[in-house]
This record gives sequence, C-alpha cells and structure tokens, in this order.
Amino acid sequence: MPVDMTNLGEKARSARSLAYAPYSKFRVGAAVLLDNGAVVLGSNVENASYGLTCCAERVAIFSARVQHPAAKIVALAVSAGDDGHPHEGERTRMPCGACRQVMVEFMAPASEVWIDGVGTQTLAQLLPAPFKL
Ligand code: THU
Repeated sequence: MPVDMTNLGEKARSARSLAYAPYSKFRVGAAVLLDNGAVVLGSNVENASYGLTCCAERVAIFSARVQHPAAKIVALAVSAGDDGHPHEGERTRMPCGACRQVMVEFMAPASEVWIDGVGTQTLAQLLPAPFKL
C-alpha cells in the first residue's frame, strides 16, 4: 500500500510543537510510520550543554525502536521551522548527517523521507554511501 506522505508530513509539522528548544528556538518535528501502522513522533530536545541535544529524527527513530521493537520503519517525515527566530530566512530543512546515518540503521534504502518544503526523497538519495558494518 502506498504511503500517505502528506499525512505523515502533517504529523511531523504538528510534532514541532513538542520541541524543547529553549536555546536555538529552532523547532523540529518528526514522524515515523511503522509497518504495523503505528506513527511515532519526535521533536528536538536540547540541553544547556549544547552538544547533548538530540535531533527530532533520532528521538522519533529511537522511540519507535523501543516502543515497537518488532516493527520496521516504512517512512519518515520531518518539519523544521524558525518560528520567528533569527534563524528565519535560512530555510534550513534537510536532516543532519548524523540523523541520516541513524536512518540507515533502521530503514531500507528505498524508504521515503518527506522533508517539509523540499518534498520526498529516498534514504539512498539522502545518504548514498553510508557507513555499515
Ligand atoms: N535539529 C534537528 O532536530 N534535526 C536535524 O536534522 C538538524 C538539527 C535540531 C537540533 C537543534 O535543537 C536545532 O535543530 C538547531 O540545530
């Protein structure tokens, strides 16, 4: 069955409201669709020790893995927004490299990744030469 990426994208957009981003004020929401039909949300979660921040995509993927250990991730959607902060205008939307590598761990290369303002790409397009063991 084809994946409704628009619907998943709407869920990622709404997950931006869950962001804990007091430092950057840059809110990111993510939604992963599992093969059992469940959708698991994530948002970025920042820390006063900035490097400890976790991106929305990884929060969603790790949460899905723990909540549904037997399920496979079919697709992921991510929405990043500036919400009036000085970041506004930079239009940063693409998932970071670390999150792409984590996607590779739990998603097939042909999985669809919807990126707000950009559209849908396959994971293989986003990270064509991933590290693998
Ligand atoms: N961020 C994400 O949530 N996902 C990404 O792919 C890139 C960056 C978050 C981390 C931090 O809270 C804020 O965006 C600014 O870097």
